Amino acid sequence: MFVLFGSYSFLDLFPKPNRIAIVTGGSRGIGAKVVKQLLQCDMEVILACRVISLGENIIHQIRESGVTSGRAKVYKLDNSSLESVKKFAKQIKADYDKIHVLINNAAVMFPTSYKNTEDGYEEQWMINYLSHFLLMSLLLPLLKTGGHPEECSRIVNVTSCAHDLGTINFDYINNFDKKILCRHDSYGQSKLAQTMSTITLQKLFKNKSLNILVYSVHPGIVKTDLFQDTVLAWNKWLMVGWKTADQGATPVIYAAISKDLEKKGGIYISNCKEMAVPSLALEEEVRERLFELSLKQTHLKNFFQYL
Ligand SMILES: NC(=O)c1ccc[n+]([C@@H]2O[C@H](COP(=O)([O-])OP(=O)(O)OC[C@H]3O[C@@H](n4cnc5c(N)ncnc54)[C@H](OP(=O)(O)O)[C@@H]3O)[C@@H](O)[C@H]2O)c1
Repeated sequence: MFVLFGSYSFLDLFPKPNRIAIVTGGSRGIGAKVVKQLLQCDMEVILACRVISLGENIIHQIRESGVTSGRAKVYKLDNSSLESVKKFAKQIKADYDKIHVLINNAAVMFPTSYKNTEDGYEEQWMINYLSHFLLMSLLLPLLKTGGHPEECSRIVNVTSCAHDLGTINFDYINNFDKKILCRHDSYGQSKLAQTMSTITLQKLFKNKSLNILVYSVHPGIVKTDLFQDTVLAWNKWLMVGWKTADQGATPVIYAAISKDLEKKGGIYISNCKEMAVPSLALEEEVRERLFELSLKQTHLKNFFQYL
């Protein structure tokens, strides 16, 4: 159900030493707080972002705030380019032999003008969903190595309750027409796609006996720059009472580390509770069609081709 103001949730952080996590879009907003909380859990955190200096600045601020635990590294990743996703994954594979947590958080919402990415896709579809789809496939070998029956590796797709307002416009994803699909529809579509692929991938991982769990998470309605291209940017008082970025990070961290969720993948979480997904996400035929389209758009022959 679409809920604007959810209740706040709290989570006790606990040490997870020797665990390695990647956070996309980690240089500001909810992602930056997710990075901080993972470091508080003594994890090694790979902050993936477009501008390295911004990522380093966030790590500096986290250290200045008194967090001394964990290790942090900053890598370049531009989610608007499939080539950048491939370069990032190649570098990670060169530097690491396993990953325990992948948090697909980077996103844009309602950009003021329509933009095609260099790969020819609508910006929100590409940054929020498609690039993460490719990233998951590329990093699968590392996630596989990181997962064990007693403690699986985890993928956390940071989605949104806006998936309730989305639909998958198969006829227009590749051929965006501003008159047919507006920038608001496209955001909901990208978030619905994340929620749907969470279900699809969990089923596939289970069939292949991979020790990888996948979650989709709504962080809540959070006061961040995500709303910079909306009317709220000029009426900040409308954001009074919204969650802080720290509070928005809580359900994401819950999905990344909570013991309650071990063996319970493929679910959608809001306020640290399992919630119902939109009815379209329950339609297997639509999920399969989306999966096939995503393979085609990312030029993958098979999602498991890198395993
Ligand atoms: N805020 C909310 O109320 C809310 C509600 C529901 C869901 N969410 C979800 O929560 C997640 C985080 O959102 P937020 O509120 O923290 O937004 P935000 O403050 O605007 O942060 C967005 C992050 O995504 C990164 N990003 C944007 N375009 C990118 C690109 N092309 N390549 C790589 N990174 C890129 C940004 O990095 P740059 O600094 O490089 O731009 C930034 O780190 C998103 O998935 C969003 O959909 C948020």
